[in-house]
Amino acid sequence: MKTSKKDISSKLAGLLVQIHKGKNRSVLRREACRLLSRLRPHDIAKAEHRLLKSGFSSEQIQQLCAAFVLMGVMEAGKADIVRRLPDSHVLRKVAAEHDLFRCFLAELEEVAEEILQQSSLSPASPELMRLSHILEHLQGMAEHIAREDDVIFPMLKKQGWESLCRSVEKEHLYLQIAVEDLLKLRMSFPNLSFRVFQNQLRSLARYIGPAMREHLFREEYVLFALALTASGDSSVWESIKAVCRDIDYCGVHL
Ligand SMILES: [Fe+2]
Ligand SMILES: [Fe+2]
Ligand SMILES: [Fe+2]
Repeated sequence: MKTSKKDISSKLAGLLVQIHKGKNRSVLRREACRLLSRLRPHDIAKAEHRLLKSGFSSEQIQQLCAAFVLMGVMEAGKADIVRRLPDSHVLRKVAAEHDLFRCFLAELEEVAEEILQQSSLSPASPELMRLSHILEHLQGMAEHIAREDDVIFPMLKKQGWESLCRSVEKEHLYLQIAVEDLLKLRMSFPNLSFRVFQNQLRSLARYIGPAMREHLFREEYVLFALALTASGDSSVWESIKAVCRDIDYCGVHL
């Protein structure tokens, strides 16, 4: 017998509670996989509403939804669904930019470590030149974020993926502030004691690396994987691509 839309959202709410209890993970993974392919965007919002009414916090619910999506996507063997898209798909470009960001994050951590090993540094040192180059590329993230905030997320929200979009878009603000702070720190190198420069560099690099990696993971393996896997309107990606092409975003450089 065909499961009604109402049944899917109540089944999802029940499954989220089971995931919270944490028992029989292999059974839960299979059930997550089965539900994922039948899910309509509004089912998540309805299930979230049920859990809110039964006393779960919004943060708990967002974590449970993300865990549900990850379990379902992994069980379905679709964890790399974004990677398997054709190069012409708008999300392939988004994921390719994510890969570049990951490379620059690794470089940032390397160069920060090298600077922390020094007892002094000249303003023209190769380490500071490298830091400037990495920063130029991390600033390129502004257009990547604008593409997500202005085009991709609003269209996915219109499809019903409201709360999952909200959970990743608020991270954009913190990440951009941290990159701006790193840029300000780099510019003020001549005016700061080397020790102060090192301490601030250490804190910023230790925040930006893990926070940005987690953000990229959540976008690719939860939000985008879900929007691509669940039965939704595939023409939405064509509309997103058309708007992005008109605005001509590029997340690789300024
Ligand atoms: Fe470059
Ligand atoms: Fe993002
Ligand atoms: Fe992104």
